Amino acid sequence: MVFASYNQEIISLDELKIPVFDRSFFFGDAVYEVIRVYQKKPFLIASHLNRLANSLKEMSIENVPDLRNDIYQNISLNDISEGMVYIQISRGSLPRSHSFHNLSLKPNVLIYSTPFFSHPAEKEASTGTYAITHEDIRWHRCDIKSVNLLANCLVQTKAQQAGAKEAILIRNNQVTEGSSSNVFIVKNGVIKTPALSSFILPGTRRQFLVNFFKTHEYIVLETTIKKSELYEADEVFITSSIKEAIAIVAIDGHNIGHGQVGPIALLARQAILEAADQAAQD
Ligand code: PDD
Repeated sequence: MVFASYNQEIISLDELKIPVFDRSFFFGDAVYEVIRVYQKKPFLIASHLNRLANSLKEMSIENVPDLRNDIYQNISLNDISEGMVYIQISRGSLPRSHSFHNLSLKPNVLIYSTPFFSHPAEKEASTGTYAITHEDIRWHRCDIKSVNLLANCLVQTKAQQAGAKEAILIRNNQVTEGSSSNVFIVKNGVIKTPALSSFILPGTRRQFLVNFFKTHEYIVLETTIKKSELYEADEVFITSSIKEAIAIVAIDGHNIGHGQVGPIALLARQAILEAADQAAQD
């Protein structure tokens, strides 16, 4: 049984009943976070909670009291050693109305956690994976981690139908991000990732790696990346809480570099795993 916390009530996830008038059901009016748990500890929890607070603010959803204790309690109740915590906060529930002007809504907060029985990124990290490119068909506020993921689901499904794993999104001939990841490229020793804007999610692993590379005196640029730069790169890799860092060895059927996992992608993953290990000891 998976224990969930719904508005601080502990309940089995299977038995949880969400009100049909919850605005997430009709409008996707909710924000979320996915936090990776390593050795029982939620990794980079502060970055996730900051981003959650920012998503709430940008959506004008009422802020909620600090969730840290509830998150730790849920990890412990579900006895998660390796796994993930999912947090979703909706604007609240009231009969269907597009505008929420002057409605007195109270956010509904869901937290649950699930274990990983095998490492979700290990195999792909060693072999690398494939991607397609796809027009970025999402809205203009991709910096908000909202549950409106329909476009992301559509393009990731297209990638999988084409035998790839991820869709790298292109807006105005420039790379934004993956359907559920951020993107880095490496060319002649220079590491690049798209600059933060309302068109990408400020990924926790993206920020961790930008800091890591800077600290270790790599040249890392937060800048624009043209679609053509993807194909010409020595390395391309994607990052996320669950995928860590995975090399993309071919895009749209074109090999990237030698078509093999490159050293910077490996270093990126190593850096994440070492930091997670270190955080678990603290
Ligand atoms: N998604 N961009 C998008 C669109 C994402 O959905 C994600 C993560 C990221 C990477 O963010 P982070 O490094 O903080 O995980 C970037 C999560 C894992 C998900 O939706 O399941």
